Amino acid sequence: MRRKLAAGNWKMNGTSADLAQIEALAEKHTGALSEIMIATPDTLLHRASAFTKSGPITLGAQNCHKNETGAHTGDVSAEMLLDAGASYVILGHSERRADHDEHDEDVRAKARAALKAGLRVIICMGEELQEREADNTLDIIGGQLAGSIPDDISGETLVIAYEPIWAIGTGKVPSIAQISEVHDFIRIRLEQRFGPQIARSIRLLYGGSVKPTNAAEIFAVQNVDGALVGGASLKAADFGPIIEALDAS
Ligand code: PGA
Repeated sequence: MRRKLAAGNWKMNGTSADLAQIEALAEKHTGALSEIMIATPDTLLHRASAFTKSGPITLGAQNCHKNETGAHTGDVSAEMLLDAGASYVILGHSERRADHDEHDEDVRAKARAALKAGLRVIICMGEELQEREADNTLDIIGGQLAGSIPDDISGETLVIAYEPIWAIGTGKVPSIAQISEVHDFIRIRLEQRFGPQIARSIRLLYGGSVKPTNAAEIFAVQNVDGALVGGASLKAADFGPIIEALDAS
């Protein structure tokens, strides 16, 4: 059985005052069935870990360097993130791909570094609106899957997030049929590459404008094992109901 995962992506939001949100979640969801992960900015990881040591929450980062150490001013390695309290790292988010010109091969190299350091990876992929409208979604996802996922993964270490770029931060969400089609397609491609046993153990998250109001409907889709949540993960009052919807699914 795949354990459901509610993953929050705080992006470039949050200072020490916002640690109270993590504290509130940790207190409220002690008995959560789902795993809860919050990817804070790196600057908060160490302090956030005070609230996550024994509770239901794990922490993540939002990027890492592909090298272990060295002359890379301003960058952070996977080992440093682990040391600061992260268990996960989100890689290949469309904002990283767009803002930092990251391509599939960069994502794959970063994933290999993260796995080597002992982090779990959440690898993101998704199509642009024009690609969806041109009926190219599955080709795009197939290419991103082949290019950004390294060979040496397991269901324990890899999570995939399907995030249509046009749905991120826009309030627009694909239809349930569209989400279902892409998630089924990803599962089949994983089976072809890694075999049924590994493929069935990898968690597939949906991401893009997940809110308390639409979460239950999305979580009812077969092959949706949770969500990667941006805006609605910043406040415990919004993320809490999403966690509860996942627990109930
Ligand atoms: P959103 O972001 O929930 O604010 O749309 C999701 C994401 O970018 O991971």
